[in-house]
Amino acid sequence: MKILVTGGAGYIGSHICKELKKNGFDPIVFDNLSNGYKKFVKWGKFIKGDLKKVSDFKKIKKIKFKGVIHLASNIEVGESYKDPTKFYLNNVTGSINLLEFIRLNKIKNFIFSSTAAVYGELKDNSKPIKENFHKEPISPYGKSKLFVERILEDYSDIYGINFCIFRYFNASGADSDVEIGESHIPETHLVPNVINACEMNKLVKVFGNNYKTKDGTCMRDYVHVSDLAEAHVKGLKKLIKNNLKKKNYFNLGSGKTYSVLEVINAVSDYKKKKVKFKYVKNRFGDPSILMSNIDRAKKILNWTPKRSNIENIVKTSYQWYLKNNI
Ligand code: UFG
Repeated sequence: MKILVTGGAGYIGSHICKELKKNGFDPIVFDNLSNGYKKFVKWGKFIKGDLKKVSDFKKIKKIKFKGVIHLASNIEVGESYKDPTKFYLNNVTGSINLLEFIRLNKIKNFIFSSTAAVYGELKDNSKPIKENFHKEPISPYGKSKLFVERILEDYSDIYGINFCIFRYFNASGADSDVEIGESHIPETHLVPNVINACEMNKLVKVFGNNYKTKDGTCMRDYVHVSDLAEAHVKGLKKLIKNNLKKKNYFNLGSGKTYSVLEVINAVSDYKKKKVKFKYVKNRFGDPSILMSNIDRAKKILNWTPKRSNIENIVKTSYQWYLKNNI
C-alpha cells in the first residue's frame, strides 16, 4: 500500500517512513528539502515537490495512494512571529493544495501533524491538556496549524475524508539504530542545544527563570520521535480498516513534564559532566507549562509511549549527535 508522506525527508517524517516500511507500507516522500535531507529518505521513493506549487502535484498524480501523512510545514515558533507570511503560505496554502489533490484523487485516509501550540497559554496549566481543551493559539505557527485543522473538518464533512489529527508535544530523541535524528539548521530545540553545549564546553542559554514552575524555568512534555512514528502507523491502520470515527484528534506526548533545568541535568547525568548554563531573558511566546493528557491515544489507538523517558531521549539524541558531529 502506497502512502504519501509530505515532509518525509524531515526529522519526524523520516522516522514515520521507517515505521511504515517496517509495517509493510510503501512510503513515498514528497518534500521540497527546505528543512529535510535527501539522505533521510531511506525507506521508499523520493519526489522533490513543493506543496505551494500546484504544478508539482503532476509528479504524483498517477500514483494510487491508500493514505496521506502530511507533515510538511514550518515549525519554529519564534520564526513564525518574524515571518508569519511564510507560515501561512507553507502551512495553510500548502495544505489546501494538498487537500485538493486528495479530493480530486479520491484518497480517503488522511493524517495531519498538528501541535500542542494550538492550545496556547491556558488559565490553569497545572492540569494535563485534553484534546477538547480551549484552543487559542498565540503564535502564528499555532494558528496556522489550527486553521488547517478547521479546513480539514470541512473536507471531512463535505468530501468524506477520514482523518486523524495528531497534536505533538515536544518531539525529541532519535532512532535507536542511529540512522536518522534531529538536524535543524539553525538548531533552536532544547535537547540538541544542551548536548551541543556539553560537547563543545559552551554555555546553554536558559530562556527565563521567572515562570510559575518549580524551578522557574519552562516545563515541557518530551515525547520520543519513534513513539510518535508508531502512533501514526497505528492510526493509519485503523483508518484504513474503518476502525475509527471520521474525525479523530489525539494528543501525542509522554504525559510527564521536565523543566529546562531538569533536561540540562539529564544530559549532565548521561555524560557524567557538568553542563554550564546562563539565564537570559524569556523567549517571546513560550507558555510556562505544556503537559499532555494522552488517555485518548492510549485507549483508542492502543498506543503507549514506550521510549519517552528522559534518559532514553537524551541517550538516543546524544548517539545521533556524536554520529553527525564527531
Ligand atoms: N529553551 C532554552 N534554551 C534553548 C532552547 C530552548 O531555554 O536553547 C527552552 C524554551 O524556552 C522552552 C523549552 O526550552 O521553554 C523547549 O524549547 P524548544 O525550542 O525545544 O521547544 P518548544 O517548546 O518551543 O517547541 C516545540 C516545537 C513546536 C511545538 C512545541 C509543542 O518546536 O513546534 O514544541 O510543545 F509546537
